[in-house]
Amino acid sequence: MGKFYITTPIFYVNDKPHIGHAYTAIIADVIARWRRLSGDEVFFLTGTDEHGEKIQRAAEAKHLKPKEFVDEIVKKYKEAWEKLNISYNKFIRTTDKEHEEAVNKFIERIYRKGDIYRGEYEGWYCVPDETFLADSQLIDGKCPVCGREVKKVKEEAYFFKLSKYRDKLLEFYGKNPDFIMPKFRMVEMENRLKGDVKDLDITRRSISWAIPFEPDKTHSVYVWVDALTNYISALGWPDGDLFKKFWPADVHIIGKEINWFHSVIWPSLLMSAGLELPKKVMVHGWLTVDGQKMSKSLGNVVDPVQIADKYSTDALRYFLIRSVKLGEDSDFSEKELISKINGELVSNLGNLLSRTLSLYRTYFGRIKGEVEIKCDVEKICSLMDGLMLYEALDEILKFVKDMNKYIAEKEPWKLEAEKLKVVLYNLLEGLRILSILIYPFMPETALEISRQLNVKLGTRADLKFKEVDYAPKRGRHLFKWVK
Ligand code: ME8
Ligand code: MG
Repeated sequence: MGKFYITTPIFYVNDKPHIGHAYTAIIADVIARWRRLSGDEVFFLTGTDEHGEKIQRAAEAKHLKPKEFVDEIVKKYKEAWEKLNISYNKFIRTTDKEHEEAVNKFIERIYRKGDIYRGEYEGWYCVPDETFLADSQLIDGKCPVCGREVKKVKEEAYFFKLSKYRDKLLEFYGKNPDFIMPKFRMVEMENRLKGDVKDLDITRRSISWAIPFEPDKTHSVYVWVDALTNYISALGWPDGDLFKKFWPADVHIIGKEINWFHSVIWPSLLMSAGLELPKKVMVHGWLTVDGQKMSKSLGNVVDPVQIADKYSTDALRYFLIRSVKLGEDSDFSEKELISKINGELVSNLGNLLSRTLSLYRTYFGRIKGEVEIKCDVEKICSLMDGLMLYEALDEILKFVKDMNKYIAEKEPWKLEAEKLKVVLYNLLEGLRILSILIYPFMPETALEISRQLNVKLGTRADLKFKEVDYAPKRGRHLFKWVK
């Protein structure tokens, strides 16, 4: 049995989660569930990033103390993750005492290594992204990531010798060509690394809502150093058993705008602290809504909980993975969601189950026969193992379509008993295999299929045609047609 450590970013708690945050959590959840089906012991970490100027300001705007404010938003994250069936093993908050302590231990290691020095920062700062920016990075004087106003900062600061790790990192990339996925995201980082790499300002002044910087308490820890440390503090670093067991992470799932932090800054900090680097960073693209960037001012922010309530959690999960290859940008549109629900989930998947079970009237007990339908289980497994979730789901849907075609060709309602048995054997076994394959994507649907087939949901080892006793119970249609 292997072990598998997977993480999402920890999200800023300035507001409740939107569809973009849900997208990341769902990707991670699909992978976590797949690894569990495969027999791995999985540690799936998610959580919230609660310190810093952005949160401090958001709390002030609501006339709340930061801790009171974040406690409310954290509840909303937990509710949303529950609604979306996110099977995390731990939800870390950067305001957890153990985390705050680990951050200063981590800094102490880096300090002792001689990689921290005092200087002065002069440049720009984007509060919404909590990012230091040089003149050359601004686009029309604005933040290159979010397009918002930046502010001038000139203050005494402590720096981490990021530049010292540039060559080591390039060497690491060279030896680990799959470190960043998709590949073009690695090329972007390489190109930036080959340019001018500046040391990183790791402290702030005049921010009250932050972890104090132990070596000099007139400073506080830059929120990104605080945040990145969550991936090890959550495991109880330095001495925790979980840390010994699960570090290094198998994969960090992130959005494209924070790749530099995860693929350059984080590995450099880890090298400085003498810790192993994560095995992979999986970078996904951005979701827009009806072709536009989501924003409060446009009033187009999509609430994933509302969508799940309206259509079903599984339909939303399916749609988000089905829409686009991991890594590319995509668009969320309710119209498209409805068209996938009706065109694929109702017409293909739901109908396949109900047609099969309506054929099943006379034969109970053990049936078997020649295997006449083909499912490329090996291909699907290797796509899932390679985190090619879109491609795997596409293959799975092909299998569903093939089974429907099989019914149409066989016209089983015309068949005599012995021949009908063979067709039923193929369909029931096909559906049993299908229930396992779709489980990571649509856990409730998978369980409902197995409930109606009256078999226990299997694992990866059960992804083959077998002899099974069938005594199905017909049940509800899996999905509702949306008008
Ligand atoms: O960056 N489309 O938190 P954050 C797709 N706290 N994904 C999106 C998205 C969109 N439109 N909007 C957000 C932070 N995301 C830091 C992270 S980690 C140590 C600290 C997802 O609340 C995507 O995964 O701004 C993105 O990277 C993340 O939410 C950023 O969330
Ligand atoms: Mg952000």
